[in-house]
Amino acid sequence: MSDNSDHGSKAQRSLIVSQRRENSLTRDQMIAARKPEEVAAPEAVSGCRGGDGDKAAKTPIEDTAAPLRDVWYYATPGFRLRRGRMLAKVMLGEPILIGRDAEDRIFALRDLCPHRGMRLSAGRFDGREVECCYHGWRFDCGGRCTRIPSLVPGQAFRPDRIHVRTYPVQEVQGNIWIFFGENPAEAPQIPLIDGFGRCSPNLVESVIFSAAIDHAVVGLMDPAHGPFVHRAWWWRSRRSIHRKAKSFVPSPFGFTMSRHAPSNNSRAYRLLGGAPQTEIVFRLPSVRVEHIRAGRHVVSNLTAITPIDGRMTEINHCIYWTSRWLGPLKPFVRHYVRAFLHQDREIMERQQKGLCFNPPLTLIDDADTQAKWYYRLKREYRRARAEGRAFENPVDTRILEWRS
Ligand code: FES
Ligand SMILES: [Fe+2]
Repeated sequence: MSDNSDHGSKAQRSLIVSQRRENSLTRDQMIAARKPEEVAAPEAVSGCRGGDGDKAAKTPIEDTAAPLRDVWYYATPGFRLRRGRMLAKVMLGEPILIGRDAEDRIFALRDLCPHRGMRLSAGRFDGREVECCYHGWRFDCGGRCTRIPSLVPGQAFRPDRIHVRTYPVQEVQGNIWIFFGENPAEAPQIPLIDGFGRCSPNLVESVIFSAAIDHAVVGLMDPAHGPFVHRAWWWRSRRSIHRKAKSFVPSPFGFTMSRHAPSNNSRAYRLLGGAPQTEIVFRLPSVRVEHIRAGRHVVSNLTAITPIDGRMTEINHCIYWTSRWLGPLKPFVRHYVRAFLHQDREIMERQQKGLCFNPPLTLIDDADTQAKWYYRLKREYRRARAEGRAFENPVDTRILEWRS
């Protein structure tokens, strides 16, 4: 991209300048001095705002940090929702009830009773209808009220005039996804993991980060933190840092790091045997799929990031594998995945202690180019939906180089 060629030096300059002048510039001057994509506007954290944080929160920049709508978000692995059961979640700040009826059909409702606001998930579900625990109003899985126990014969009120909001919901390869918005037909599709048909993941690990969605996405796609945050004998060390070049191409609603041999310092891949080749796909709103092929074996990692609200994010990491010998090793794989995700969670928690002062942020080429693409993709998607036009992928084919 043409504006990237000289951006590295500009960004370095701006970083130095921002460090030197942070105390002397006003907040508005600092915001004006930045390109929008250099601003990963952190959500203001209540009770933790620094100085002019309230003022910054009123600028339009904050809107860009809001979770994208009109997209599918990962809700839960399907195995956590058995037949005749329901599950309560908060996604994008909205209370959601997800249920699986007696016939194995899933549904999603706004988890609030239209009578007096009770969480419907606090009530009972008999596999057909949800009964609110407060006054016993009942709702079918399509959200229609079927019964109001307090009505006496002859009272004209019709319960079926009352509806709870429903959400489009899909179960794909063992995972439940919910659509937030109006028109799923034109939205990015739920990613399908090649070669696994209708299989469910062999392993799912869920973690909650104390970070707004943008920081969670950028933090997980960031290649430069590996040697500092993910040091482990079985993965990599600080000394293993070296120069890398990866080629990227645009792909539907995102970009793909083309198939390549994983870094020499990624020891865990070698356990698969053969000559591992990996391809990594990022797709809006916040899904990353890594396909690793090694000899006859395929391992795919699906990492889906879902905003809980403006300050918290849920990460679900699903692993699919074909190799039989990984089955007995599942407890070890889980241990390593958990350790890895917890390293990310801890570093982001520490980052929050800085972000709550609403500091200026800088993205440099090429290590942060994927983060820039994320912001551009998000902005373009939002604009395309608002203007009722087709999405134009802003990512170019490029080779990115960094040390990690
Ligand atoms: S609040 Fe649900 S029935 Fe009254
Ligand atoms: Fe990480």
